[in-house]
Amino acid sequence: MKRRKFLTSTSAALATAGVLFQSSARLASAQGQGPLTRLAMPPLLDTRATSRLSLATQAGSSGFLGGPSTPTAGFNQEYLGPTIVLQNGELAAEVQNTLDEPISAHWHGLLVPGEHDGGPHLPIAPGATWQPEMTIAQDPATIWYHSHIHERTAEQVYFGLAGVIHVTDGEDDARGLPSTYGVDDLTLVLQDRRFDASGRMVYNPSMMNRMHGFTGNRMLVNGQAGATAVVPHGIVRLRLLNGSNARIYTLFFDDTQPMHLVATDGGFLPAPVALDTLRLAPGERAEILVDFSGDGAPVLMSDPSQAYGVLQFGTDATLPTRITHLPDQLDGVLEDLLGAEVANRQFSLDMGMGGMMRGGGGFAINGRPFDMRRINFDVALGTVERWHVRSSMVAHPFHVHGVRFRVLTENGAPPRPENTGWKDTVLIPGEAEILARFDQPASDTTPFMFHCHILEHEDAGMMGQFTVT
Ligand code: C2O
Ligand code: CU
Ligand code: CU
Repeated sequence: MKRRKFLTSTSAALATAGVLFQSSARLASAQGQGPLTRLAMPPLLDTRATSRLSLATQAGSSGFLGGPSTPTAGFNQEYLGPTIVLQNGELAAEVQNTLDEPISAHWHGLLVPGEHDGGPHLPIAPGATWQPEMTIAQDPATIWYHSHIHERTAEQVYFGLAGVIHVTDGEDDARGLPSTYGVDDLTLVLQDRRFDASGRMVYNPSMMNRMHGFTGNRMLVNGQAGATAVVPHGIVRLRLLNGSNARIYTLFFDDTQPMHLVATDGGFLPAPVALDTLRLAPGERAEILVDFSGDGAPVLMSDPSQAYGVLQFGTDATLPTRITHLPDQLDGVLEDLLGAEVANRQFSLDMGMGGMMRGGGGFAINGRPFDMRRINFDVALGTVERWHVRSSMVAHPFHVHGVRFRVLTENGAPPRPENTGWKDTVLIPGEAEILARFDQPASDTTPFMFHCHILEHEDAGMMGQFTVT
């Protein structure tokens, strides 16, 4: 069997820290004898009974590899946050900031007005509490939350201020979908992180890292390194979030079994779509079904051309197998917005005038770096617009607040399968056209953002803002 590696430092010190990836062959033979660390899910925070959501930032420290620890931060815990379950209806949220710097709580993928969006115009000062009273009204989806302070987002998310949200309608049984959290319905936050020779997690972007985005040398899943996801012998649902600052994954299973895509950023597809590889850029989510009825211990890998391990799976026959067949149909409705658009806009994801000359950042949209005091444009509430977005030089994942959109074309052709559903973030290696209806209002005091979701690019100015009135 070909030798695989996780994202691993080449440093001998790291290797001797006992953190090297075990190949699946070794792991399978080690089952039952060696200690196997089971991947843990983030704790569940179900708001459905109370219609209340209470989050508080918490400073902590985590020694991810069992080595020296790094100061980290999370929501209600020391790194990352709970998986929040929301249903449609009223939600009284409160987010308390106990850290000594401002943070925000942006609900990435939640369709709420600008005043509840938690972007850079809604900082929560140290010691303060933000209490948005929100109305949730959207299709079931896997979305997420993270801090979004201008010029601080990359570092704050890197050290832990992020978590997953499940918007649910309680109808997954009727859809034939696995829904037992942590058993046949796994939430997986994929993050690469950089560890130094002593095994300490570091964030020390060089000029080059700021240019290309900061990538790591180890994979963490739900904040854990080297853990095994143990699943029943049946169909398992994986809710994947790329919570990395800059790394783009092209996911596949080493045993070449297909992944059945059932949901994209904004909700379910009309029917599962079988994929051999799944591309996931920072900020994107995908829900896939995988058949674990075989006896193998497959590894979720990334990057067919330079493969590395992302997550080891193992099966446990004592876990209940609830779903054994793929659903034929799902109830996702993909509205065709074509022909309804009242405006066209062009966006070029590029360097500002002067580019790298200006103080080491220099990312921009249409040649202008982000300026918190400048509203770039206004969209008429309730209308559909067609946006043409082009990346110059490298591929940028483009994200828009306050909407879910359809991808009309990618480089002039129909979108790739991953991008056929509802999206709020899409990787743009060349150019793409997207269509969105803007149903959420946003004023000039709390406008919506549009930006590259490579967090170093966003912080360096590849962002703009718009109102919806
Ligand atoms: Cu995930 Cu503007 O953010
Ligand atoms: Cu967002
Ligand atoms: Cu970018």
